[in-house]
Amino acid sequence: MIFDKVKINFLGCEFENPFILAATPSTDDSDMLVEALYAGWAGAILKTTAVGSSSVDLKYPMMYAIKDNSGNMMTLGNIDLISEHPLIEVARVVKKLKSKFPSKIIIPSIMGRNKKEWQLLTKTLIKSGADMIECSFSCPQGNIGEDPGRMLAQSAKATEIATSWVKEAAKDIPVLIKITPQVTDITEIAAAVKKGGGDAVVVTNSVLGLIGIDIETGKPLPTVNGYGSYAGITGPSVKPITLKSISQVAKGVGIPILGVGGVSNYKDAIELMMAGASIVQIGTAAMYNGFRIIDSLNDGLNNYLLRKRFKNVNEIIGKALPFLVGLDEIEYKKEDAPIAKINQDKCIQCNKCYIACYDGGHQAIFIENDKLDVDKEKCVGCGFCTGVCPVDAITLKKR
Ligand SMILES: Cc1cc2nc3c(=O)[nH]c(=O)nc-3n(C[C@H](O)[C@H](O)[C@H](O)COP(=O)(O)O)c2cc1C
Ligand code: SF4
Ligand code: SF4
Repeated sequence: MIFDKVKINFLGCEFENPFILAATPSTDDSDMLVEALYAGWAGAILKTTAVGSSSVDLKYPMMYAIKDNSGNMMTLGNIDLISEHPLIEVARVVKKLKSKFPSKIIIPSIMGRNKKEWQLLTKTLIKSGADMIECSFSCPQGNIGEDPGRMLAQSAKATEIATSWVKEAAKDIPVLIKITPQVTDITEIAAAVKKGGGDAVVVTNSVLGLIGIDIETGKPLPTVNGYGSYAGITGPSVKPITLKSISQVAKGVGIPILGVGGVSNYKDAIELMMAGASIVQIGTAAMYNGFRIIDSLNDGLNNYLLRKRFKNVNEIIGKALPFLVGLDEIEYKKEDAPIAKINQDKCIQCNKCYIACYDGGHQAIFIENDKLDVDKEKCVGCGFCTGVCPVDAITLKKR
């Protein structure tokens, strides 16, 4: 179903909705891409390709997930690399998808080692019909950055130079630069993309972490032939990092943004848009729930826009930014502190809030006649208990 309210024009291209698949294994297979586009995704970022991709050294198992107590996946770590398909095959897929779905936005992702490679990849894929080019700047800087061992997007200088190479080759086809949150100041990197002629930034890529250690064997996870390595962390747990990164770029640098990282549903997507993203990419959640998650994303966003009486999706982009300030800029008096209130009809008397406030708050929750209540004098309004309550029975009210 296509809803008028969720349509968006971004960098001169019409997106039927703001949701596109991020580069993952889901976008590395032509048949899977066809299914996803039929399902209703506005477009897709193909898994990253490089010159000589066929010699990529993938190792299995390549993923490990952290689950919550109900068994739902919260965090995914992967040691996947780029696509194993050679450039010629990726070009063929782009051509096939564009002829089958002329109105979908097809964006190959590339990664080069030098000017020649970046430009060859760009020109080849534009020739085959790519609507835009995404560049993964999570690859090493080579000899153009301050530290060749680091990622391109960890150096403003390297980012600017490599962006300008791609833009020179892409001409008027939009160039999107996918940057990393693992820098001291992400606005410096986004500004370098702008200076290099990039049309937009993709904020951000997976966050490098150690997903876990098997305490029975002492081996890092996922374990490959007895060894482990640092993994790209994705999924719900990275959303706060994504929101911070998007909002910093949106506030500090005037450049269009595609947001990615940690979106599980339409509400998360709205948050990324309110932080400043125009288009939202989704990876882990589409792998986990299947391509049909697009229906609930579209329905959810459309119903939200109707309920809140927004004319269209453009009206929510950056909506949170005017209210996002430094902590020292928030005007505040002591008496502004709220107070916790327990809804007795909802409370299931699990005592979680009592324990949490007793040892992690201000010992303000007490039990009387088998009921839990809040001591108004002791409660400082910290808000901890509202997050602890499993049935949302606690709210913060005006004092
Ligand atoms: C298994 C896997 C493989 C990925 N491969 C790529 C890739 O080839 N190129 C790239 O730029 N990002 C790659 N990513 C990162 C995703 O495009 C996306 O930035 C990341 O998963 C965060 O979004 P999510 O939380 O919605 O998954 C990969 C992610 C996963 C989970
Ligand atoms: S708001 Fe803080 S101090 Fe007040 S009851 Fe909750 S945890 Fe305790
Ligand atoms: S955490 Fe919630 S449900 Fe449990 S005792 Fe407190 S108010 Fe009641």
